Amino acid sequence: MADKALQAVILAGGQGTRLRPLTLARAKPVVPLLNRPFLAYQLALLRAHGVSDIVLACSYRVEDLRAALGDAEHLGVRLRYAIENEPLGTGGGVRNAADLVSGTLFVLNGDILTDPDLTEMRRLHETRGSRTTIYLQPVPDPRQYGLVETEADGRLKAFREKPAAGEEITTNTINAGIYLIDADLLGRIPRERASSIEREFFPALIADGVPCFGWCPTAYWRDIGNPAAYRAAQIDLLQGRAAMPLAPPGQRRDGSWVDGGGIVEPGARIVAPSVVGAGVVLGPRCKVGPGTVIGEGARIGPDARVEGAILWERVEVGAGAVLQDCVIGADVKIGEGARVGPEVVLASGTIVPERATLTG
Ligand code: GTP
Repeated sequence: MADKALQAVILAGGQGTRLRPLTLARAKPVVPLLNRPFLAYQLALLRAHGVSDIVLACSYRVEDLRAALGDAEHLGVRLRYAIENEPLGTGGGVRNAADLVSGTLFVLNGDILTDPDLTEMRRLHETRGSRTTIYLQPVPDPRQYGLVETEADGRLKAFREKPAAGEEITTNTINAGIYLIDADLLGRIPRERASSIEREFFPALIADGVPCFGWCPTAYWRDIGNPAAYRAAQIDLLQGRAAMPLAPPGQRRDGSWVDGGGIVEPGARIVAPSVVGAGVVLGPRCKVGPGTVIGEGARIGPDARVEGAILWERVEVGAGAVLQDCVIGADVKIGEGARVGPEVVLASGTIVPERATLTG
């Protein structure tokens, strides 16, 4: 294997419309997962496979990305930003970052939680003489994704983005959103014009006979791009289904993670697996968990119950309120005795009146 350290580009410029209203307040690549910005998991994965020079291709809410990650020195990598004046799509975004990279590079969609052995992917790329290798995943219903057909030897045959209803489905393997690309191919992508890596760049490589291969390992994989998947990904992490090289902040305590500076009042319980952020106040007799994440500086009132719920920072939950399987944005105030049910997603700053009932 070549000794040269590889670089990576992460596509992080999408508006994340499917994850609204959460993405109206924070860019999707840095929404919190177990109280860490989502991209921290991708940076940790790359670092674990020897990739520490990483460029974020971004355009939407760049200030959120910088505030959450900075130069990522604390995560053991060097992070740089390639900013598009106008969103250039997945193709133009990589092209815009191309001046900062060379050699063979990883390109990642900035919205998939996954734990594949990238070292193995790199080995396949080199031993097969591949010039572009695409990480593939089998899924039960591939319709909402980009389908990828391969020959028996793994060579890429065809790409079909999100087939229409009624169209024949010929494969259940999808584009899992991580690529290894020889950077000298990136000159094929037009500069300063929006384009799609999936719909334009890859199909053109196949049409021109450039050696491209699919790689289909056994790995955990989830697109976190809608609220249900965003919550489910965190439950998966809590239950240890994904082998991520990054733990939640805080100390491990009875199967949960609890960060410092908080107060646990008499009778308050944390039921594992859960994550409780820094400076959280758990009121008397409240019950948090299982499957719950409480963001930094939140306050859970007396006798409240919070189960299967994801709370961002500084949420206030009134006395006796019940939250079940929901996602609550930052600075939300939930009145006493209110009930917030499964699949509810509350935008940051929402105020829920006392004794209100919200259902998904
Ligand atoms: P939805 O609006 O909910 O579909 O989300 P999205 O805007 O993120 O689009 P999509 O999920 O298709 O994007 C896949 C990946 O490409 C994500 O990591 C996006 O951040 C990224 N992406 C999408 N459009 C752009 C763009 O114009 N520029 C850059 N740099 N990245 C993009």
